[in-house]
Amino acid sequence: MSQSDSVRIVLASRPEGRPSPQNFRAEHAAIPAIAEGQVLLKVRYLSLDPYMRGRMSAAKSYAAPTEIGQVMEGGTVAEVLESRDPAFRRGDLVLSYSGWQSHAVANGSQLRKLDPKSAPVTTALGVLGMPGFTAYAGLLTIGQPKPGETVVVAAASGPVGSAVGQIARIKGARAVGIAGGPEKCAFVRETFGFDAVIDHRDPDMAGKLAAACPDGIDVYFENVGGHVWDAVFPLLNTFARIPVCGLVAQYNATGDFPGPDRLPVLMRQVLSKSLTIRGFIQREFIAQAPVFREEMARWIGEGAVKYKEDIVEGLENAPEAFIGLLEGRNFGKMIVKL
Ligand SMILES: NC(=O)c1ccc[n+]([C@@H]2O[C@H](COP(=O)([O-])OP(=O)(O)OC[C@H]3O[C@@H](n4cnc5c(N)ncnc54)[C@H](OP(=O)(O)O)[C@@H]3O)[C@@H](O)[C@H]2O)c1
Repeated sequence: MSQSDSVRIVLASRPEGRPSPQNFRAEHAAIPAIAEGQVLLKVRYLSLDPYMRGRMSAAKSYAAPTEIGQVMEGGTVAEVLESRDPAFRRGDLVLSYSGWQSHAVANGSQLRKLDPKSAPVTTALGVLGMPGFTAYAGLLTIGQPKPGETVVVAAASGPVGSAVGQIARIKGARAVGIAGGPEKCAFVRETFGFDAVIDHRDPDMAGKLAAACPDGIDVYFENVGGHVWDAVFPLLNTFARIPVCGLVAQYNATGDFPGPDRLPVLMRQVLSKSLTIRGFIQREFIAQAPVFREEMARWIGEGAVKYKEDIVEGLENAPEAFIGLLEGRNFGKMIVKL
């Protein structure tokens, strides 16, 4: 790559089931010129998030798919190389949505300036960014945990799950996490301070979860679906709230889901236990974002919320890191350093 080159990763083909490196392609291009009101960005950090699997598929969803040949979407922290917007200067660090590429042109109105003295800039992609906000808004608006209640969340070592459990504890609830493998479970208990943690790979996961929730489950923050949901479902209390945030266990699925039709049993329980099951996409709560940033920054400063990042070097390693994220090979907020 020469100094005048930019590199980007585009969607080469749509995956069937698990994505493979062949679904992505690296391309080189000249660094673009900017017009009045625009800013040229050099990406420093790229966020990898499970929702990107949805963009790779042509199936109808809440957002349009990435077209074949288009740059993969994604949130980034970038440095301003050149600016024709008076609000930005060369060297500024900004939060942008410039995708899987080394350079991008953006309008100033699409950027938020970051202050590296107030927090490490990578946190704008994790605990102080979209995933942290998802946890905050989904848990507090839909889950509404009360002191003494039991809150359960899976993918508990990731940026959404870890924030859910820690915020639940700040609100006086018991936090029970579910994570994959002993190392993640120990971290969730010891560093994130959850009251109990269950390994979803344990053959007796359902029994262990029941033992960890002797008073049942009042809030289940749904991040994964699959066999975790099967273990949680019988433990839900009357008036339990279930913010449905994500179903990562199903994102690579093809065809029908295995097992019997669960819908009649689910609907009976929704009725007889007055369950609230409410899906959400974080941006519907975007009006809460300024309050979230202030409150979350304070909790981090007080040590009430901790976070973990998993940083991979090099844009060329983004596809493999993303494939691993969907399978739990990440350990913390998945970020690519360019
Ligand atoms: N609704 C929204 O607006 C919104 C916004 C952001 C994120 N989300 C959703 O929130 C969830 C968590 O996102 P994140 O960024 O914090 O991801 P993450 O936790 O960093 O990564 C996903 C994790 O899911 C777990 N997982 C994968 N397959 C699993 C399975 N079959 N059973 C149980 N766990 C499995 C893995 O952890 P283990 O190794 O512990 O299994 C993996 O590390 C995702 O479903 C995502 O789509 C939704």
